Amino acid sequence: MSRVWRRVAALAIAGALLGITSAAVADERFDPEYKGGKGPGGILPVKNEEYRNICGACHFTYSPGLLPARSWEAIMAGTDKHFGKKLKIAPEAAARIKTYLTENAADRSNYEGSKVLMQRLSDSQTPMRVTSMPIMASRHAGVRNMRTSVKTLTNCDACHLHPEEGMFATDDYIIPGNNPGMGPDLHNSEHMPTG
Ligand code: HEC
Ligand code: HEC
Repeated sequence: MSRVWRRVAALAIAGALLGITSAAVADERFDPEYKGGKGPGGILPVKNEEYRNICGACHFTYSPGLLPARSWEAIMAGTDKHFGKKLKIAPEAAARIKTYLTENAADRSNYEGSKVLMQRLSDSQTPMRVTSMPIMASRHAGVRNMRTSVKTLTNCDACHLHPEEGMFATDDYIIPGNNPGMGPDLHNSEHMPTG
């Protein structure tokens, strides 16, 4: 099935599930295949092994392109009180990770998805969570009403199928446990018409 058709079908199903009556518009800029912008589509994929090993030990490895540099600075300045945990990271490693995060941050990234993420964030806001980015709330408005076993947006990989590749397109997710008449999980591409 062509990608365009998959997207149309995915949107129709997502729209029906989310109870969206006005047509939801897929934002292709969150798709690495998007070629319409100055920079690459999607969000920078994480290729830094040190960052992945250290910061991905407890949760999904967030791409630097999901938060502005000032947020990463604040997060790296507070590793002794990291969401209730004291992180044990050698100072040299922490410095290298901070450089990687800030140099590739959403407000410095040429990835089109990062540019979208920055859109509604005012200069005075320094979110400590990706899930606090204004665009995150608006793009997940419908997810709140879904009957899913996933209780928080924090683990992007609970729903998005290839978030580590910087892929957040609306035809590439699964909603665990949400399945009106469709089987145990809604997997948006499995339920597409074939051909
Ligand atoms: C010892 C475990 C642990 C390690 C290691 C760790 N974190 Fe976390 N992190 C947490 C916990 C716990 C939360 C809060 C999760 C929640 O609210 O569900 C969190 C949340 C976050 C969030 C916010 C996610 C959201 O909800 O949007 C970011 C960003 C983050 N961590 C970045 C990092 C970075 C950068 C590093 C490496 C310097 C790191 N973490 C290492 C435990 C850890
Ligand atoms: C409970 C499942 C779930 C989790 C967890 C989740 N998402 Fe999503 N996300 C969705 C769904 C469903 C959509 C599409 C909504 C729609 O079609 O209206 C979406 C849409 C998006 C979009 C907008 C895509 C577009 O084309 O407009 C972005 C960006 C995004 N998610 C990023 C994230 C990030 C980053 C995380 C982790 C911090 C995350 N999501 C966690 C389910 C989830």
